[in-house]
Amino acid sequence: MLSFKSIAVVVTLAFGAITSFAAPVESSLVRKDANVTGVAKIISDVTVAVTPLTVQLQQITADNCTADTLTPVINDINNILNGAVTEVNKLVGQPVQTILATVDGAAQITVGELAQIIAALLNLVLAALGAVLKVASGDVLSVVTPLLASVGTAVGALLTAVLSLVSQLLGGLLAAVLGLVGDVLGVVTQLNVAGLTSLLGLNL
Ligand SMILES: *[C@@H]1O[C@H](CO)[C@@H](O)[C@H](O)[C@H]1NC(C)=O
Ligand SMILES: *[C@@H]1O[C@H](CO)[C@@H](O)[C@H](O)[C@H]1NC(C)=O
Repeated sequence: MLSFKSIAVVVTLAFGAITSFAAPVESSLVRKDANVTGVAKIISDVTVAVTPLTVQLQQITADNCTADTLTPVINDINNILNGAVTEVNKLVGQPVQTILATVDGAAQITVGELAQIIAALLNLVLAALGAVLKVASGDVLSVVTPLLASVGTAVGALLTAVLSLVSQLLGGLLAAVLGLVGDVLGVVTQLNVAGLTSLLGLNL
């Protein structure tokens, strides 16, 4: 078994390139805050959690594009998104330092950084919905559309919770997010998710 010291050496070697330009800041303040969960961490955890599920949606073909195949995957995604809404709402009334903590908890997030984290989630999920829409045809489409739209609704609820929590603290967040998600907005329009289309200011 490797001792902690030798593991540390291996890790140092493996990440030499990274550590060489990111000098670690070892103040006690950083360590104390290093485990704060703000909006950025919640969203980025959601992105990690839904990634394998979006891969499953990307792999759906015309042959297995059915309600039976899609429902468990969609339910899992919705549960993760709804859980995140609960987490975000728990941040209401918390100190600004907590709400706006970076993913590693060590600093405060900027509008641009948070917009990127949110946009990454939107792009991932909406692209997966778009992939299913692409292979769904004919009568399947009428069965599949409400399932996909339910994910759109859950995404809208999460975005609403995030914006209502941080828009006072970080001006221009929604505009910054919109600037990063252009490609996938067609999916929102196609699914006609009322909450999301109005939030994103899409004209139908
Ligand atoms: C975060 O802080 C809590 C409470 O102080 C502690 O119980 C937990 O182990 C910490 N987690 C990490 C990953 O440091
Ligand atoms: C759907 O079919 C494709 C192609 O056979 C396969 O790769 C994919 O895993 C299937 N998806 C599910 C959820 O069964």
